[in-house]
Amino acid sequence: MAIPMLQVENVQVRYGPVPAIHDLSLLIDQGEIVTVLGANGAGKTTTLRMISGLHRPYSGRVLFEGEEIQNRPAHELVGRGLCHVPEGRRIFATMSVRENLDMGAFGRRGSSKDDFDHIYSLFPVLGERQKQIGGTLSGGEQQMLAIGRALMARPRLLLLDEPSLGLAPMIIASIFQIIETIRAEGVTVLLVEQNANQALRIADRGYVLENGHVLYQDTASALLSDDRIRRAYLGQ
Ligand SMILES: Nc1ncnc2c1ncn2[C@@H]1O[C@H](COP(=O)(O)OP(=O)(O)O)[C@@H](O)[C@H]1O
Ligand SMILES: [Mg+2]
Repeated sequence: MAIPMLQVENVQVRYGPVPAIHDLSLLIDQGEIVTVLGANGAGKTTTLRMISGLHRPYSGRVLFEGEEIQNRPAHELVGRGLCHVPEGRRIFATMSVRENLDMGAFGRRGSSKDDFDHIYSLFPVLGERQKQIGGTLSGGEQQMLAIGRALMARPRLLLLDEPSLGLAPMIIASIFQIIETIRAEGVTVLLVEQNANQALRIADRGYVLENGHVLYQDTASALLSDDRIRRAYLGQ
């Protein structure tokens, strides 16, 4: 049996004395797309920040490729292949597209032409706009740049926090398509979304969070056809 890519075991996360995540357990196998769904405030961003070393859990364990990481700093985890594209994109607004991508390779051995070529083949628009200043890109292009920058670090596990937020439907469709391509290239994906419908269409499995705990977990197809999920999260 292959070692799971990520195991979150009975984790609690607090902000000061207030628990935001209660007893959370998740498992992601190598090569999967797993989605974490839930309403605003459910604890999705907190979960990703905890996994990527930006916020320490109060209790519980996180294992990345079988090794405990809950006390490791974020920059070390990036170097080990665990990369996080935060909510709201957070590109470097005053740097060019190319400079933004170059920052993603920082801490590795530096970027190579192959790295840039790979990103530009996934996102041709970034190749056309290499010299454009990040802050002047459209929202969809900024999201592509944020994902491209994370890929420059050559992750094995990519955490994506609401990549479709605020984007037009056509752009959302291409972002989801690119996520499938990234997985086909061998990257495991943990996708946080409020857009449950589209996320479940590309995911293998999903977890639904409510008030900091897992309400449902199942295969994506079972969640898509579950009446409770359809009513509460798919607006059907
Ligand atoms: N920095 C913070 N300080 C205190 N409480 C926070 C902080 N960030 C998030 N929270 C609280 O934690 C809960 C989960 O938030 P969050 O993880 O951002 O949810 P989601 O990403 O699902 O919208 C919410 O109740 C939110 O108000
Ligand atoms: Mg969030």
